[in-house]
Amino acid sequence: MSTILEQLAALETEALDVLQRAETTEKTEAWHGEFLGRKGRLTTILRGMGQLSAEERPVVGRQANIIKTTLEEALQKHQNAVAQSEMESALSAEGIDVTLPGRPQSLGKLHPTTQAMRDILDIFGNMGFQIYDAPEVESDDNNFTLLNFPPGHPAREMQDTFFTKDEGIILRTHTSPGQIRAMREFAPEPIRVMLPGKCYRNEDVTTRSEMMFYQVEGLVVGRKVTMSDLKGVLLNYANKMYGEGRKIRFRKAYFPFTEPSVEVDVSCSLCNGEGCRVCKYQGWLEISGAGMVHPVVLKNGGYDPAEFSGFAFGMGIERQAMMKRQVDDIRYFYSNDARFLERV
Ligand code: DAH
Repeated sequence: MSTILEQLAALETEALDVLQRAETTEKTEAWHGEFLGRKGRLTTILRGMGQLSAEERPVVGRQANIIKTTLEEALQKHQNAVAQSEMESALSAEGIDVTLPGRPQSLGKLHPTTQAMRDILDIFGNMGFQIYDAPEVESDDNNFTLLNFPPGHPAREMQDTFFTKDEGIILRTHTSPGQIRAMREFAPEPIRVMLPGKCYRNEDVTTRSEMMFYQVEGLVVGRKVTMSDLKGVLLNYANKMYGEGRKIRFRKAYFPFTEPSVEVDVSCSLCNGEGCRVCKYQGWLEISGAGMVHPVVLKNGGYDPAEFSGFAFGMGIERQAMMKRQVDDIRYFYSNDARFLERV
């Protein structure tokens, strides 16, 4: 019996000693397994109790229970202390230095083309225009022939148009072919639509032109649509887009699908028409091509030109954004320079 009591006493001393040196939660858990676990050393010693006499057994049993309780209490206390110190060191390691300058979060925002497009569609939406979606891959007929482009018109030539492998199928060079689609869908009802979207031209990229760009087309067809309606609509647009007090002017121009045709200028909002670097000292900036829908085009759309008239206009979205935000090179728009995209 004495040997087993001695073993128990030695175990207690060793266990308490080892516990003091278990500095982490992990080590205290390992300690529990080694000394108190189901296969631990205390259990192992107690397994030898079978050999003891009936008088010895309760004495050893009582002693074993005392040691077990002592060790469990010591473990509990030690674990609390370890958890506390672990938390303290974690806190000081993750400590926040409130004097550090903040890291700026860069916010995403809409691309300037998207912003301009939405501004434009909002303005015309408030004038009762609906949006009509037309495809970027178009027939040569819609893009040219039905818009009254005479055979051999320079815009039909190879350098302007992207062709596909399919005969007569091209990438649209402007949003105007959507006029034919809208008219054919709605004729003989009156129309007031905006046709936004991408266009493609096989041209050299310069400060003013990209191969891919956005346009928005407006089309109104009705029984008594006049050029002064066109002027009123565009004047209202100019004031909403570029600030109250804008003036517009029409200069005569030529487009195959309108007659008469004009180019529309808005008075420069930076110098109020006085002349400055942005307007190249003209006082005016061009915003749109426009005109009265050509009778041939009306007829191709399914309207009788004797009864119906209409106006149309088409403008480059990037150009509107450039003027509104004083950007002097269209190539910024699609070169993905974050500094530009954040600024405008
Ligand atoms: N489609 C012409 C272009 O891309 C712009 C244009 C001019 C559209 C006059 C029109 C218009 O609707 O009436 O250059």
